[in-house]
Amino acid sequence: MRQIAVGIVGYGYWGPNFVRNFNEIDNVEMKYICDLQPANLERHRSRYKSVIFNSDYNELIEDKDLDAIVIATPVDTHFSLAKQALLAGKHVLLSKPMCRSSAQCEELIAIAAEKELVLMVDHTFVYHGPVRLIKQMIDTGELGDLLYLSSTRINLGIFQHDVNVVWDLGAHDFSLLDYLIGRAPKSLQAIGKSHTDTRIEDVAFMTMEFEDDFIAHFHVSWLSPVKIREMMIGGTRKMLMFDDHRPIEKVRIYDKGIELLSKPPETETARYKALVQYRHGEMKAPVYDMTEALKYETLHFVDCIINKKVPLTDGHSGLRVVRLLEIAEQSIKKQSLSSVTLER
Ligand SMILES: NC(=O)c1ccc[n+]([C@@H]2O[C@H](COP(=O)([O-])OP(=O)(O)OC[C@H]3O[C@@H](n4cnc5c(N)ncnc54)[C@H](O)[C@@H]3O)[C@@H](O)[C@H]2O)c1
Repeated sequence: MRQIAVGIVGYGYWGPNFVRNFNEIDNVEMKYICDLQPANLERHRSRYKSVIFNSDYNELIEDKDLDAIVIATPVDTHFSLAKQALLAGKHVLLSKPMCRSSAQCEELIAIAAEKELVLMVDHTFVYHGPVRLIKQMIDTGELGDLLYLSSTRINLGIFQHDVNVVWDLGAHDFSLLDYLIGRAPKSLQAIGKSHTDTRIEDVAFMTMEFEDDFIAHFHVSWLSPVKIREMMIGGTRKMLMFDDHRPIEKVRIYDKGIELLSKPPETETARYKALVQYRHGEMKAPVYDMTEALKYETLHFVDCIINKKVPLTDGHSGLRVVRLLEIAEQSIKKQSLSSVTLER
């Protein structure tokens, strides 16, 4: 089996998760761990004895035997690090969000296409067992026609210095929306506020409207006393609750809903009473694959390189997510909500 030599740049919070997973893949040689901070390089030197620990990214770029580079640095550095890697002929796996602008994403996509290289974005949740189960349920029509999606991703989170909470946490939600729903909204409205001197928004609410009656809402926050990772999806046949913070039974399917009367009642009183009929069926918690999402993701990246496949989360999906992030950010800056005057 062909050996793939992989190097990682960025060994802070997220990078070690990639290294642990790539290191477990038989036909991968985990060759470099690169970080600017010496203390981060010291952390696992004894665990990965054959890996080269360094602080000079150029060494990875100039190594002709290195096949792929994983980028797990802050988003502002993604474009230049990924561009150098692609121009040097390396396949790239890039942390979310892909870049700081859609123009940067487009440039990376063009270089990767021209050089026939794999460009994959780390939309981790797309590879998560419960999410793959939900996708299957949507695609097979088990939920019926989709009516709404409502998501809450909040905790007392790490206040990032370079991006706001939408770019940090909303990137996960938009990648899930992109994968699960597979359509772009026709409009997006966002409101967000910074509660520090940085003017970087730490709480935001975003609402999307689609061509049909489907609507979506997202609440993201670094300023919540409790950690909540919940997504609710309502369909005409069934509704589901995805609670990623639960250790088990993360997905619960409710056979609940309403039935619209096919023939409206004749009198006004009967119409008032019987606008809808309620369905209270059973709840089930289906079994899903418990494998770590990053295990699937890293295996998929290697498979795409060896077998020349297009990744599930390719540059185009990264671009679509960044477009939504840009639009949400513009909407927050515009503050174009309808004004309300209420006397009390
Ligand atoms: N998929 C997920 O669930 C998930 C979770 C957390 C973070 N992330 C993403 O991972 C990326 C990194 O986030 P993090 O929380 O690990 O950040 P971090 O600040 O903890 O780590 C980033 C590391 O990159 C290093 N670095 C920066 N520029 C460098 C350069 N030019 N050369 C070498 N090293 C360099 C820094 O020294 C730092 O150690 C971000 O894009 C973030 O959005 C994804």
